[in-house]
Amino acid sequence: MGVKRDLSVDIAGLKLKNPVMTASGTFGYGLEFEPFFDIGDLGAVVVKGLSLKPKAGNPPPRIVETPAGMLNAIGLQNVGVDVFLEEKLPKLKQSKATVIVNFFGNTAHEYEELARKLDGVEGVHALEVNISCPNVKAGGIVFGTDPAVAHNLIKKIREKISLPLIVKLSPNVTDIKVMARAVEEAGADALSLINTLTGMAIDVRKGKSKLANMTGGLSGPAIRPVAVRMVWEAAEAVKVPIIGIGGIMKAEDALEFIIAGASAVQVGTASFVNPAAAMDIVKGMETFMEEENIEKITDLIGSVRN
Ligand SMILES: Cc1cc2nc3c(=O)[nH]c(=O)nc-3n(C[C@H](O)[C@H](O)[C@H](O)COP(=O)(O)O)c2cc1C
Repeated sequence: MGVKRDLSVDIAGLKLKNPVMTASGTFGYGLEFEPFFDIGDLGAVVVKGLSLKPKAGNPPPRIVETPAGMLNAIGLQNVGVDVFLEEKLPKLKQSKATVIVNFFGNTAHEYEELARKLDGVEGVHALEVNISCPNVKAGGIVFGTDPAVAHNLIKKIREKISLPLIVKLSPNVTDIKVMARAVEEAGADALSLINTLTGMAIDVRKGKSKLANMTGGLSGPAIRPVAVRMVWEAAEAVKVPIIGIGGIMKAEDALEFIIAGASAVQVGTASFVNPAAAMDIVKGMETFMEEENIEKITDLIGSVRN
């Protein structure tokens, strides 16, 4: 009784008060959630993926509910890096939140340009690069599925920035270990996984896809077992810290990832169901540690047995 539980973790030199972050694209720019709790109490806020220019995204319908999650084809809608820096970041700084900026480009050049713009900006504590979008210039190859392309991209970004660099991996690959090693060798300081799994849902009466884009990204509890397996495999394959993502709805779900080998987690779809989900998960973890008499959350990282 009365023992202070230590939830702090260190991700590539970035000290977080607890291991719970929000997942990019599911928490806006953080500010939308201020009515629900103090976002500065989270481990970190990961903002909606930014591109060089503002992006309108795909036409609707672009969200479909599925039995244990959702399909989305938002199409990376965002305000663009300049509006983020001018309008959103100053307010985020006031919240004292640890801010991780997620970004993506269509070409390697765009990725580098964005990284350069964001590096060294006060109030931006780390960058998370999303390599799950189509590489137009390379003729449809996806940065996140070709290990050599991913390696070259991350190496170029790494050379240009001094902030901690988190690389967010796609699960739509044959072997996650190969991708994890490729970006670690290129200089990634941490990996986050998983992004959504490609899926599709059809309205049988209309004979049409429920999404205007035909396919979308599946998220939510449906993907959690896949995500836990991939985090476990990646944690065995690399030395850099892993951030686990995929269908985390409550503290026990987050703990699964930590025990599998993640040093921190991100909460995505759960925030649509309960805007306070991420903070509830922090509290739930603390309760679990009290019940199990665990002093430091770091003692649990990668503690899975067989
Ligand atoms: C509506 C929506 C928008 C998303 N936008 C982004 C994004 O801009 N950048 C990114 O890296 N991931 C994005 N994601 C993926 C999430 O960050 C997360 O990896 C995924 O949803 C799995 O976690 P979850 O099951 O907890 O939602 C988005 C997911 C959803 C549902």
